[in-house]
Amino acid sequence: MISDESGRIVFVMVGLPARGKTFISRKIARYLSWLGYETRVFNVGSYRRSRLGSHQHHSFFDPRNEAGNAARREVALAALDDSVAFLAGGGDIAIYDATNHTRERRRLVRERYAREGLQVVFVESICNDPALVEANIRATKARSPDYEGVLEEEAVRDFRMRILHYASRYEEVGEDEGRFVKIIDVGRKVVLHRAHGYLLARVVHFLLNLHVQPRSVWLTRHGESEFNVLGRIGGDAPLSDAGRAYAEVLARVVRDRIGPDAVVWTSTLRRTVETAQIVGLPYRMWRPLDEIDAGVCDGMTYAEIAQVMPEEHAARQADKFRYRYPRGESYQDVIQRLEPVIFELERERAPVLLIGHQAVLRALYAYMMDLPPHECPFVSIPLHTILELEPTAYGSEERRVDLPPTPLDPEGFRESQT
Ligand code: F6P
Repeated sequence: MISDESGRIVFVMVGLPARGKTFISRKIARYLSWLGYETRVFNVGSYRRSRLGSHQHHSFFDPRNEAGNAARREVALAALDDSVAFLAGGGDIAIYDATNHTRERRRLVRERYAREGLQVVFVESICNDPALVEANIRATKARSPDYEGVLEEEAVRDFRMRILHYASRYEEVGEDEGRFVKIIDVGRKVVLHRAHGYLLARVVHFLLNLHVQPRSVWLTRHGESEFNVLGRIGGDAPLSDAGRAYAEVLARVVRDRIGPDAVVWTSTLRRTVETAQIVGLPYRMWRPLDEIDAGVCDGMTYAEIAQVMPEEHAARQADKFRYRYPRGESYQDVIQRLEPVIFELERERAPVLLIGHQAVLRALYAYMMDLPPHECPFVSIPLHTILELEPTAYGSEERRVDLPPTPLDPEGFRESQT
C-alpha cells in the first residue's frame, strides 16, 4: 500500500461524459503500474454494461428517471466497494472512474473511502472547447460498446443528449471538498488544490505533459556494433559495417516515412550516436537512454559470465527483472531512470525516432504497450528492426518493420530468449 505524506490516496475522477476521464485514468494507471505500483481503474461504465447491458437509451441517464438513478447508483457503489476491497487486499492505487458530477455523490465517495483511512484526490476534467468534445465523442463514444450496431450519427445524437442530462446537475469540485487537480481543456490550464505529497506531485507532473494529438513513436536499436558481433554486452563500441549499412537504410525509411520533422533521441553511447549521425537529422543525446549498466560484467559475453560468475548468472536467470549486476543496474533501476524520458515522450507532439538499446527499449516498450513491468526483460527487440508505435486513445498500436542487413548479434539474441 502506497501513501504520500498525508496518508493513503485514491484518485476519483470527476467530469461530464466525453471529457477524457477514462483516457486520463488509464494513463495514470499505466504510468503508476510501470513504476511498480499495483494500480487498477474501476470504471463505472464497464460495471453498468456488464450488469445492466450496453444499450441504454439516453433517458436512462436523465436525472428525473428514478429507476435509472437507482440502477446507476447501485453499479457505482459496486465499483466503489470493489476498489475498497482491492486496496484492502494489498493494491497500491485505485482510480475510481465515474462522472461523480454532483457534490452529493462526491461526499458519499469521500466518506466511504475515509472510513477505510483513504484520502481522496479528485481529478476533474473540464472541457469547454466544443471541438475537443466533438472529436472525443466521434473517436471513442460512437464506437463504444454502448452503441454497437447503431449508426454513427444516431449514436452521436443520443450521446449528446446523455451529456445534457449530466450537465443539468453538474457541480464543479469546490475547495471545501478537499484535494483536487483540475485539468481544463486537455491541459491548457491546470488548477491544483492541496496537491502536495511526493506521489501526487509526480502524477501532476505527468498529467501536465499529456495531449491527445496523434503522432508516432519509432523505437529502434542502434545498428549492429562491434560488441554485438563478438557477443559482448555493454561497452561503448562503434558500429560494425553491417551496423552502418542498417543506419543508411534507416535514414532512407525515416526520410520517406516520417520526414524532416522527426525528433531524434539517442543515448550518449557511440553506437546510437553514430546511427543518428548517418540518419542525418539533428539529434538529442540523453544519458537516461544509456544501456543497462552491466557493472562488473560490462564487456563480457553471457558464456563468460556463466563460467566465471555462475552464481550471478543463476541469480539473473531466476529473476531477470529484479536482478542487479554487481555495481550495475537491474531492469527495475532502468525503469526508474527512464521516468523523465516518458514525460518528454508524452509531451512531444512531433514524431519521435528513438535510437536506443535493447534493455532500455524493452522498458519503454512496456510503458507504451501497458505491459506488466516484470515482463519487459523478455520482450523481443532484435537489431535492425523498427517498432512503429501509434499511441491511440487507450494504448498503442504496433507495427514491426525488419530492415536489412540481417545482424549477427549471436549471444544477445540467445540470451534474450531466456
Ligand atoms: O547485447 C546487447 C545488449 O544491449 C547489452 O549491452 C545489454 O546488457 C543487453 O543487451 C540487455 O539484454 P539482456 O537483459 O537480455 O541481457
